[in-house]
Amino acid sequence: MGRKKISIIGAGFVGATAAHWAAEKELGDVVLVDIIEGIPQGKSLDLFEASPIEGFDAKVIGTNAYEETKDSDVVIITSGIPRKPGMSREDLLEINKKIIESVVTQVVERSPKAILIMVTNPLDTMTYLAFKRSGLPKQRVIGMAGILDAARFKAFIAMELNVSVEDIQALLLGGHGDEMVPLPRYTTVSGIPLAQLLPKETVDRLVERTRKGGGEIINLLKAGSAFYAPSAAVVQIAEAILKDKKRILPCCVYLDGEYGLKDICFGVPVKLGIGGVESIIELQLTDEEKRLVSKSAESVKKSIMELKL
Ligand code: APR
Repeated sequence: MGRKKISIIGAGFVGATAAHWAAEKELGDVVLVDIIEGIPQGKSLDLFEASPIEGFDAKVIGTNAYEETKDSDVVIITSGIPRKPGMSREDLLEINKKIIESVVTQVVERSPKAILIMVTNPLDTMTYLAFKRSGLPKQRVIGMAGILDAARFKAFIAMELNVSVEDIQALLLGGHGDEMVPLPRYTTVSGIPLAQLLPKETVDRLVERTRKGGGEIINLLKAGSAFYAPSAAVVQIAEAILKDKKRILPCCVYLDGEYGLKDICFGVPVKLGIGGVESIIELQLTDEEKRLVSKSAESVKKSIMELKL
């Protein structure tokens, strides 16, 4: 059995950093693709030259063509433009739609058995577009958002309580926008419900900071958006799939009636293994949580309509 193959489309901040995490974890050989000549080649050679130092065995190839992506097990799609200060994820829709349509066609032609992991924003809408255009089964098109948003929530809780991030479990539902639904009721620190450790006002503040977490980074960076945490999150999905770990993680997937939602890609907890999305877990929600979920779903639906598919 040879090594697994991971192709990453878009060798920008998120794509190149994902290549770094994936190679270092020896998840497989990595192919980095970008339209800009020299960038994927230069970054992949540089990364491979780090391998004797860090001691990982993974080939890393950079290219402007798709031939090298043939028969990939997993394809991570990060190509597109990121947000600038003052922009919403929705402002990217028109440009990124064109990019994703062309990329998905070229990828699937050469890797019809691959699992696609979408990163490009607006995330839920681009995942829906990739699902529709790829013709792949719904189990094999996954959007990365919930892991990132939950990680931000966990990071803020860890900072607030001055405890290890390792002990925090958090869950989150909904679209990858300011209306995402962090779930404090499903959040624990070493098994202790969050409500026993922090007053409601503090939890509300951390929830709000999580919702605006992407914007907070953009405002600090001025040019470009977050990439360390997004790329780590995407590689966690790839690892769960390639190692058939059966992890339960919040991901953006196509819903066909789950949570009362149809024909939408939306963030929900799923089980990830070698087949991709092996099951969708339906949580019991309070009326207020249901209200927040349907508000988030409405804004995702509105964005999907703008694709005019
Ligand atoms: N094919 C391949 N690569 C492309 C294409 C295309 N058709 N169009 C653009 N790209 C490449 C760009 O050349 C660039 O190198 O995609 C890369 C995007 O990288 P960055 O601009 O650094 O953006 P990044 O921060 O990585 O974000 C990428 O992920 O988180 C989301 O909102 C973010 O949509 C954005 C995406």
